[in-house]
Amino acid sequence: MKIATVVGTRPEIVKLAPVIRELGERAEVIHTGQHYEASMAGSFFEEFGIGAPDVLLGGVGGADRATQIAAMLHQLGGLFATQEYGAVIVQGDTNTVSAAAQAGNYAGIPVIHVEAGLRSHDRAMPEEVNRLVAGALADVHCAATAVNVANLRAEGVAEERIVLTGNTIVEATEHSLSRPEPMLPVERAVLVRSVLATIHRPENTDTPQALARIVDAFASIDSPVVLVAHPRTRAALSRHGLLGRAQRLLIVDPVSHRQLLSMMSAARLVVSDSGGLQEECTVVKTPLLVVRRSTERPESIDAGFSRLVTPERDLAAAIREQLATPRAVLAGLPSPYGDGLASRRIAEIAVGIAGPQPEHHHDDQVAQPA
Ligand code: UD1
Repeated sequence: MKIATVVGTRPEIVKLAPVIRELGERAEVIHTGQHYEASMAGSFFEEFGIGAPDVLLGGVGGADRATQIAAMLHQLGGLFATQEYGAVIVQGDTNTVSAAAQAGNYAGIPVIHVEAGLRSHDRAMPEEVNRLVAGALADVHCAATAVNVANLRAEGVAEERIVLTGNTIVEATEHSLSRPEPMLPVERAVLVRSVLATIHRPENTDTPQALARIVDAFASIDSPVVLVAHPRTRAALSRHGLLGRAQRLLIVDPVSHRQLLSMMSAARLVVSDSGGLQEECTVVKTPLLVVRRSTERPESIDAGFSRLVTPERDLAAAIREQLATPRAVLAGLPSPYGDGLASRRIAEIAVGIAGPQPEHHHDDQVAQPA
């Protein structure tokens, strides 16, 4: 039986690609289409060499949260009722994860949650609710760190369902960094003086006040600021009338994973609300300021790679202070996210649950009598 690997957004493609590669023929890749632009999804399938998705859902991208989840659940429910899968793999905390974990559970297919046990304890974040849904439904929780294991135990998840695997971002990052140095949208000579920023979470983009706080802080510091703009952020800058105030920023379109990692390595500092960048900064060894109310990734802070700057703090002052701190010390620190073998462990777990590959299939056209 095939193993359904469900992806919907850019970070899920990045982080499940190493698992899909490990599974080889066993993986059936289902793309929900939550992210639908080539620059946010399609180009990542190519970049990671996992081919086009086997199944692509429709009517998901661009819809509101309830509609997205309902559309995915409906279509995945239909698929899981007609195709036999030995397991469903979901990753992270997106709307796609909530829908796919539900569809798998309702169809009686074992659900494997990759990157399980992260908790920000901030239920205003859609991602926190998605994590809780996946946490309630998963049959196996692949936790990236000891902190994640402890969160799951505290919620009463049975010990035998928790596996400490590490985070697949380590091998995804190593894979990308091993590829040839790419062309960058900003000259390296500028990047090495710059603050690199990515901002897209609802808490920073949904209201004019929240986004203006960040834009104004960026506009007030001496270093150049390169903002790699998520479509949500580009739309919000224009909707909130902030394009004028953002004029000093170098705003560029989404880049490939390899390009982003090169830009992160070159930059003096990264400022972001992304989950993935909090992990990647520990591999490329660049300091990161997390602009959020809370984080579900304390490991990066505890290890000395990142700092949380909450909304009531003066962001420009925090950036200046961080720029004045020597960063060389980070080069010698190990990443707290794993040893680069997480995807192998996860693939082994999935194959163990789904069972061995059947001897022959496909060519048996004759229907069996009921
Ligand atoms: C989603 C995830 C978030 C993850 C992020 C990575 C949820 C709740 N959030 O946030 O956890 O960190 O992906 O990028 O699942 N849009 C486009 N083009 C695209 C993709 C999105 O224009 O290719 C627009 C959508 O139409 C929408 C907005 O961006 O208006 C937000 O998209 P959505 O999928 O709701 O969430 P993200 O902000 O991308």
